[in-house]
Amino acid sequence: MAPTYTLNDGHTIPAIGFGTYPLRGNDGVAAIASAIEVGYRLLDTAVNYENEREVGEAIRRAAVPRDELFVTSKLPGRHHGYDDAIGSTRESLQRLGVEYLDLHLIHWPNPSVGKYVEAWRALVTLQEQGLVRSIGVSNFTEEHLAAAIDATGVTPVVNQIELHPYFPQPQMRRVNEKLGIQTESWSPLGKRRAPFGEPAVAEAAEKHGVSPAQVILRWQVQLGCLPIPKSATRERQVANLDVFGFELDPDEVAAITALGRPDGRLFGGDPDHHEEM
Ligand SMILES: NC(=O)c1ccc[n+]([C@@H]2O[C@H](COP(=O)([O-])OP(=O)(O)OC[C@H]3O[C@@H](n4cnc5c(N)ncnc54)[C@H](OP(=O)(O)O)[C@@H]3O)[C@@H](O)[C@H]2O)c1
Repeated sequence: MAPTYTLNDGHTIPAIGFGTYPLRGNDGVAAIASAIEVGYRLLDTAVNYENEREVGEAIRRAAVPRDELFVTSKLPGRHHGYDDAIGSTRESLQRLGVEYLDLHLIHWPNPSVGKYVEAWRALVTLQEQGLVRSIGVSNFTEEHLAAAIDATGVTPVVNQIELHPYFPQPQMRRVNEKLGIQTESWSPLGKRRAPFGEPAVAEAAEKHGVSPAQVILRWQVQLGCLPIPKSATRERQVANLDVFGFELDPDEVAAITALGRPDGRLFGGDPDHHEEM
């Protein structure tokens, strides 16, 4: 079983999770159930993935006790009004068929609407009501984090951000760390642009006798980040989870971080063009 991190609210979270976008339909249920069967305990879904039902069905199919799983969902940008946010979360619980979420995130700040602080107040209420155990955010900058914390006195436990070797986010990792927020990495491999052939990755893979994907996920763990790789393939699901039996040298970690480049973002920094949002 994967090791865990302790969040700033005292709950623990697995140090690696399973990304479920865009797994849907019967094949989606099968892929997500497979991930649970091979050992993933953290499942990452969102209203906008339109697969909360599939995640719920996979949970029931895999038959792992609910309290051994860590289920994350996300509030979409269009539901940031206080009442809307409460209603949206209740609907997520119904679709998933669970009584509580382990973690609920604001999917993105949707700054042009400017209601993310209101959404954060709603998440605080949902946590008080016990419908959500831990609350966090995604795609928040330092400014968004400060506004949410100043308004409520409650610090998110997690900030889920794009983070992979071409976009290693040194500044946001520092900001999160200073605030006691766990950095969670989306597109942790780099999705379709995964840098498997880069010498820094390929040479470390060769040296440690692992795959390039395992090197990248191990790099994530050694940075203190929590990667949530997605794979529809059981063999890759197993391999992606198996990153706790070897260690990269500091110079190998540094060489992978040095792959960061100005055009490294997958979505060009424009959230309106983000396929998830
Ligand atoms: N908060 C946000 O705004 C946000 C944005 C994007 C994503 N996310 C979350 O982050 C999760 C992961 O991100 P992602 O799916 O974009 O990217 P990713 O996990 O970096 O990459 C997934 C891709 O890599 C392939 N892959 C997985 N393991 C592999 C391996 N061992 N060797 C070779 N190829 C491999 C997968 O193909 P196969 O399936 O064919 O194996 C898939 O095409 C999502 O599922 C979602 O839960 C959140």
